[in-house]
Amino acid sequence: MADTDGLKIAKDYHISEPFANQNGFYVRGANHLDWGMKKHLANIFNPKSGNTVMFAFDHGYFMGSTSGLERLDLLIPRLLPWIDVLMGTRGALRTCVPPENRKAVALRTTSGSSMLNDDLSHEVIAVDIEDAIRMNADCMAIQTFIGADGQLSSLDNLSRAINTGLRFSIPVMGVVAVGKQMERTDRFFKLATRILAELGANIIKTYYCENFEEIVAACPVPIVVAGGKKVSEEEALQLAYNSIQGGAKGVDMGRNIFQSLHPCEMAAAIGKIVHEGFTDKEALEFYKDATNK
Ligand code: R5P
Repeated sequence: MADTDGLKIAKDYHISEPFANQNGFYVRGANHLDWGMKKHLANIFNPKSGNTVMFAFDHGYFMGSTSGLERLDLLIPRLLPWIDVLMGTRGALRTCVPPENRKAVALRTTSGSSMLNDDLSHEVIAVDIEDAIRMNADCMAIQTFIGADGQLSSLDNLSRAINTGLRFSIPVMGVVAVGKQMERTDRFFKLATRILAELGANIIKTYYCENFEEIVAACPVPIVVAGGKKVSEEEALQLAYNSIQGGAKGVDMGRNIFQSLHPCEMAAAIGKIVHEGFTDKEALEFYKDATNK
């Protein structure tokens, strides 16, 4: 391991130069993966826009019933037309999501935390690869805790998922969690996203922050931006717009969709930004028009 004393701060991100993907497959960093991996990634990232709208409804895995997600069986079928990827637990998917839907699946694969714990950073792989295959998962989502107590075990989880994912051509999405003692700085997100990508994650879910372009530039796989706590529709659309402008290949939003007064219209407005080049203001107008009818 390199000596970390006297390290120079990385600064040459060449953010104006596009990622050198060797003119191959359109998903960043996936050019040398096999057909099965590419097929799953193409299910996730729209081949036309290159981007994705993931809908996160996996909150129940540690929060139990969450405001807005009380009735997954009613909500999810309504939202399906407006999203690209269902990010959920196998329990929610098997019980509440019609299998004939055509959407990709980001399967929540780790668990072990609950709202009743002080330290949420200890998780295990809860879904084995056979079940991920049975669920036809397009990627396995693994929570990681860089800088927290659970760092070692979460990176062990991530590496195990990547090892089995490579055997069966199922991509892994590394999810950057921010421990209580960590700050949401670009320095932290640069560290965490790059570590996860270097360990072999095919997609990284992380938060938006200042200097986001540099985080994207230094991360050789696509980044999708997490939604976070519920804010106004205007602010959530700004977040989506800033993320896409900053180089994210999509968003993975939960509360800002399912806790909106109008979840379907909100998901549709986000899709306008992610896939159709709308600005946040145009998307807000779209949302207002759609909800005033
Ligand atoms: C986070 O790591 C989990 O996947 C969350 O359940 C999900 O990302 C939360 O989504 P949001 O913060 O947009 O409600």
